[in-house]
Amino acid sequence: MVKILFVCLGNICRSPLAQGIFEDKINRANLGSYFFADSAGISGWHRGEKPDSGSIEIARKKNIHIENQRSRPVVEGDKHEFDYFIAMDGSNYESLIREFGIPASKLFKLRRFDSLDQNGNVPDPYGGGSNSFLQVFEIIDRSMDPFIEYLKEQQGL
Ligand code: 4NP
Repeated sequence: MVKILFVCLGNICRSPLAQGIFEDKINRANLGSYFFADSAGISGWHRGEKPDSGSIEIARKKNIHIENQRSRPVVEGDKHEFDYFIAMDGSNYESLIREFGIPASKLFKLRRFDSLDQNGNVPDPYGGGSNSFLQVFEIIDRSMDPFIEYLKEQQGL
């Protein structure tokens, strides 16, 4: 099984949504037996908390349920556990290299797969209104399909 860890700062807004969107697409494509996803934060500030209500609500509107996820920080063992680390922004990306020694070969910014802007960040919606969360959802959703295509290609699927 290929293991993917989605990473943001707090693990309550962006990466729980990324995990939920990824799992939804993978399950719809009947690829659930090939891929495992989790999410984590660079910080442990929200450890044990549910995702932000803004993320839960936008996901629910799309029939994706993330309310059972709980925030956790990235831990040392993740380096050996996961095959891919998908950072939401440049700061998360740099932290994964500097603090956790994740090799560049396993590490991507999610928007590297965004057909509209391959150098962008997934903006932090924390404290923002429902429009911020909708924008984040759309960026993640749009980037996820090419990412999954990349994974399938790597696995010969
Ligand atoms: P996330 O958003 O990294 O997408 O989960 C944030 C959540 C909380 C904070 C910052 C970003 N915070 O400063 O507590």
